[in-house]
Amino acid sequence: MSKLWGGRFAAATNTLVHQFNASIPFDVRLYDEDISGSIAWAKGLIEAEVLSHGEAQQIINGLEQVRGEFAGGTFQFSPQDEDIHSAVERRLTEIVGSVGGKLHTGRSRNDQVATDFRLWVMRACEQVESHLNGLQQAMVDNAEANLALPMPGYTHLQHAQPVTWGHWMLSHFWPLVRDVERFSQLADRASVLPLGSAALAGTAYPIDRQALAGLLGFKRISQNSLDAVSDRDFAADFLYAAAVLGVHLSRLSEQLVLFNSAEFAFITLDDGYSTGSSLMPQKKNPDTLELTRGKSGRLIGNLMGLLVTLKGLPSSYDKDLQEDKEPVLDTFDNLCVVLPVMQGLINTLRLRPEKMAAQLEPSLLATDLADYLVKREVPFREAHHIVGRVVRLTESTGVELTALSLESLQSISDRFGEDVSSLLGVNASLASRTVTGGTALPALQEQLKAARLAMTGESTGENVA
Ligand code: ARG
Repeated sequence: MSKLWGGRFAAATNTLVHQFNASIPFDVRLYDEDISGSIAWAKGLIEAEVLSHGEAQQIINGLEQVRGEFAGGTFQFSPQDEDIHSAVERRLTEIVGSVGGKLHTGRSRNDQVATDFRLWVMRACEQVESHLNGLQQAMVDNAEANLALPMPGYTHLQHAQPVTWGHWMLSHFWPLVRDVERFSQLADRASVLPLGSAALAGTAYPIDRQALAGLLGFKRISQNSLDAVSDRDFAADFLYAAAVLGVHLSRLSEQLVLFNSAEFAFITLDDGYSTGSSLMPQKKNPDTLELTRGKSGRLIGNLMGLLVTLKGLPSSYDKDLQEDKEPVLDTFDNLCVVLPVMQGLINTLRLRPEKMAAQLEPSLLATDLADYLVKREVPFREAHHIVGRVVRLTESTGVELTALSLESLQSISDRFGEDVSSLLGVNASLASRTVTGGTALPALQEQLKAARLAMTGESTGENVA
């Protein structure tokens, strides 16, 4: 069996060049989309009066048989198969005979691959969204179970103000809502049919492209054949969305690695989600989290690689474009592991509230002390200065903020009153932040509700002003 394009050549392709040129090792994963595209094309060719109904039916039956062979793992590859398109056509012709040779009328692998790959990415987005949903579910459940559990909040990784575990967990949930949105938006943007663009100039046959789009589930058809065969924005969009998701997962992982250290000890990872050391018997390592953090490098790299590949290309098809698939496949495969692993890890996470409580030291309440003075008519800037001096006093005397006597406080400002000690505390601090997005219990409950709503795709959960 000769190559699809063998006629013009007197000598065979160099073996190494054949391997170099071939994409079948990876684009075989597009077989289902390729066959669906070909079935739609065969139907289009009936309308264009290239195929009779009988011929088209023969081709469609043959294509379904080829699909079955791929799905059942019985497809026999030939060393001549260059890519998924040539492999399908070769096998189809073996099954249906020379009528199979009519299928490629008015079509090119250029518009074929662009069509297949768009379909594939659109489906991939749905799968990623569903994995994301699983992880979101785990995070919301975990947040709900520990909604009001106090823990120190950090800025610059320094003790800042009290927050709750649920609030912290949801701070990593909301970025995933935006990720889901990105995947669903990019799938929508990808929903443009290139088929009918042929190699570069548009097909010379009267194909109803709108009908093709309908058959394949595309929302729109491309308007410029040159652009249609070279546009890989949808692949870059996918890799960008994945890279941002990777960054989100990396930040979550990093913080969990810290919380899992002996120094923090806020959490314990389940044995099923940790690994040991070959040398140090006591070790229980957060490899899953580290690997998730590490994967973000690969996800960003895949995006960078594709963008650099695309950057210098003239419009229409260039073989460089074959480099588009491996980064997308690799990114997808990694997301399909990382997301369920993170879901399981969160679902099995054990918290250690006593360790969090031990870190809830009084200096976290310094802002609340300033707010106390503000309520007593002290301008905030002045209050900030006064409390700064109080903090200095705690450092020089070794007496903590909440243990200072009223006399000591009043030696710095006479605005401190009897009620100061009763008003100052972690719970009071949490409860005072009643604003939407704050730490007061009613606000947290509202947030949780909004989070559950956002997961249904009903709303992003953000209140509209
Ligand atoms: N395997 C090719 C790819 O993935 C298909 C398109 C080939 N087109 C061509 N004119 N050589 O991009």
